[in-house]
Amino acid sequence: MIRVIDLSKSFGALRAVNHLSFEAMPNCITSIIGPNGAGKSTAFNLIAGTLRPDSGRVELEGHDVTGEPAYRLAKLGVARSFQITNLFFGLSVLENVRFACQSLESRNRFLTRLDRLSAPVRRATEILEEFGLDESADQLVGNLSHGDQRRVEIAICMALTPRVLMLDEPTQGMSPAETAEIDTLIKSLAGRVTVLLIEHDIDLVMNISDHVIVMHQGRKLFEGPPNEVRASPAVREAYLGAEHAAA
Ligand SMILES: Nc1ncnc2c1ncn2[C@@H]1O[C@H](COP(=O)(O)OP(=O)(O)OP(=O)(O)O)[C@@H](O)[C@H]1O
Ligand SMILES: [Mg+2]
Repeated sequence: MIRVIDLSKSFGALRAVNHLSFEAMPNCITSIIGPNGAGKSTAFNLIAGTLRPDSGRVELEGHDVTGEPAYRLAKLGVARSFQITNLFFGLSVLENVRFACQSLESRNRFLTRLDRLSAPVRRATEILEEFGLDESADQLVGNLSHGDQRRVEIAICMALTPRVLMLDEPTQGMSPAETAEIDTLIKSLAGRVTVLLIEHDIDLVMNISDHVIVMHQGRKLFEGPPNEVRASPAVREAYLGAEHAAA
């Protein structure tokens, strides 16, 4: 579904992403893990069109989409959430999801007669039910728990009926219980959509990932199925090394 070929990006002298190559198979969960500063978010930004690579290629279903701007990639079916929650906090849950549904209409009619909004509202209501948010429909997003805000964010991405869903640390700052819920939610989406997931915590992704890419200092350190990643001495060392450095 997505093929990344020899992708590189530097910020000044820092090689944030260094000759990265990998593939994400259709309707599977591919996770990118690695210690702080490994280059995970930068890799995401290069794939999703937020940043342009210095060199290398990104292919979506065999088509070269390198350097395509984010809005074009969104139109091609790539939806992403950001590491920092990116919602309209002063609007209700339903309105946040409704805007996403409306953006799929042939023209963006944000100033439209209320009676013409029934289709997006109906669609948004269905999505809220599916994501277990129906009881929070009228609450302001700013008043929700962190976990529910993340849930709204994923609901918004899915409202865009994407083919590829990119999630950057969706469980950041969550309690273990909230994390488990989001894991279950993400797992339930696989099969319908290709998921590209960034996670910080190795253990957390092991249950839900089909394939894991481990990044370290901009490079791909290892890739394979979760059990092989867990068993890899190089991966363990990278994580322990990062912990020692932080200590
Ligand atoms: N816009 C930027 N300008 C300069 N340096 C940057 C920029 N974005 C990222 N970096 C640097 O590039 C390196 C990789 O950062 P990146 O955010 O991709 O890491 P990450 O793996 O997502 O880390 P984290 O787990 O902390 O989110 C870091 O050293 C970071 O400081
Ligand atoms: Mg990051």
